[in-house]
Amino acid sequence: MSSFTSPDILSHLPIEAIQPSQLLYLLPIGFVAWALYHLSIGFYNLTLHPLAGYPGPLLARSSTLWYAGALARGTIAQDLLALHDKYGDTVRITPDEISFIDPKNWKEIYGYRGGKVEMIKDPRYHDTVKPTPTILTGDYDQHNYYRKVLSAPFSEIALKKNEHILHEFVDKWVYRVKELGQNGTKRIDATDWFNFLTFDLIGYLAYGEEFNCMTNSRLHDWIEASLAMATLMTLGQAARQLPYPFDKIYKAWAIPEYVYRHTKMHRTLVEEQVNSRLGKDPKHMDFLQRMIEIYKAGNLDFPTLSEHASLLTIGGSETTATLLAGAVYFLAKDPKVYGKLTKEIRTRFADEKEMNLINLSQCKYLLGVVEESLRIYPPSPANHTRMVPQGGATLEGKHIPGGYCVSMPMYGSFNAKSNWAQPTRFAPERWTGEEPETFGRDRKEALKPFSFGPRNCLGQQLANHEVRLVIAKMAWHFDLELMSESIGWEQQTSYTFWKKLPLYVKMIPRKN
Ligand code: HEM
Repeated sequence: MSSFTSPDILSHLPIEAIQPSQLLYLLPIGFVAWALYHLSIGFYNLTLHPLAGYPGPLLARSSTLWYAGALARGTIAQDLLALHDKYGDTVRITPDEISFIDPKNWKEIYGYRGGKVEMIKDPRYHDTVKPTPTILTGDYDQHNYYRKVLSAPFSEIALKKNEHILHEFVDKWVYRVKELGQNGTKRIDATDWFNFLTFDLIGYLAYGEEFNCMTNSRLHDWIEASLAMATLMTLGQAARQLPYPFDKIYKAWAIPEYVYRHTKMHRTLVEEQVNSRLGKDPKHMDFLQRMIEIYKAGNLDFPTLSEHASLLTIGGSETTATLLAGAVYFLAKDPKVYGKLTKEIRTRFADEKEMNLINLSQCKYLLGVVEESLRIYPPSPANHTRMVPQGGATLEGKHIPGGYCVSMPMYGSFNAKSNWAQPTRFAPERWTGEEPETFGRDRKEALKPFSFGPRNCLGQQLANHEVRLVIAKMAWHFDLELMSESIGWEQQTSYTFWKKLPLYVKMIPRKN
């Protein structure tokens, strides 16, 4: 026991000497001292702090309140964009963090840094939901090891081998959408139906088991539980930015009880699923196969196995469902764009069965639709903060000392006026080269929705293949009509992921 908590020491404190009436004086004095202390820190942050020269709003340069507020409100993605549009490519978003949107900084912040030490993730980012290190949260060695263990099923060869699984699930989606939409007479909620599809698919790819969301037209409890966990992560990040005791007060006040309940439920569901997977041998090489072999050989513990199962399930389904919902919203909103897409798909193929991962990767307009959806509505919209290592880093020609934070906000970089012409327009032509006079000066290297460098997305190829196939089959089978109640759908908050609203569309079987 530490001497601080020793009752013996406490008994020597002259507590009894303080009269209740004296507290009336001591409390305000304490408050004034506390306020003066924070004011002096704020003054230091604005004047003598090593990052004092960077532009940004007064509240963000002097305290962490601006950043904590944006995280708590769920507007961090849009707020960072607004700051960059106002202050330029480089903005100070907390006293200790600089945000960049010029694409040349991807390499130094997230890349291999030419043999120098890789920048680590800011530990405050994952702390709330990190019971055990994973590929996402582990240190350099842990990350390298888990990445190697998990990589095999994500290779192009393995994906090609499992291509028939993608087709089976997407065909079932088409069938169910036709059935539920009563041949285009009834609206469907595309947000739900993409979650059903991607969750069913990830269940099969990760555990060799179907979750039956499409069969039951019902979200698995797991989806809601995992979104609660993502909310907890963001609110935890907000709390961590606040000074003591406001961090504790905020956490107790702002995080609803249901978030903790769902987070607990999430862990139970993952553990049940992993236990069920341990008892059988799936027909194909699923995502967990290699890790399970290591677990069975006694070289990995159960919490590590189940944490990885959890992150593959969420990372592999929610992100892809979000991208698909965003694509459908922007396509349904602009019949001219959707018309160009359907023309490409319906003329390129004589039969739906001709579609495969290789020839879809040659459909220029389809690829443009996917890139543009990732740009305008990135599934992981916020900034993925990194810490500058000892010795510092040079960014935009300026030295940033070790220990400070740097980041590139996804939504901000992908929608900033200085990176893109007409950033609010959904224009696949930006990527096809059809309008060089308008989009020729876009800084296209800014688009890195799967992040960059050694910790970029392991599922990038799978996600790209899956999304191309779904959009192509949708364009093959359906015309789209956006319901008036879903106009403005993209105005959403985000807590790690977007809080997606229902997306009501009619998917009308094509006539010709
Ligand atoms: C459109 C879909 C997707 C997007 C936009 C996306 C985005 C990202 C991003 C931005 C990261 C980096 C996170 C960070 O720095 O903290 C990441 C990492 C990761 N993603 Fe994805 N992801 C997608 C789909 C998938 C899929 C389908 C899977 C697998 C089933 C997956 C598995 C992973 C894994 C394992 C990591 C950690 C990689 C590492 O740290 O080495 N993702 N993803």
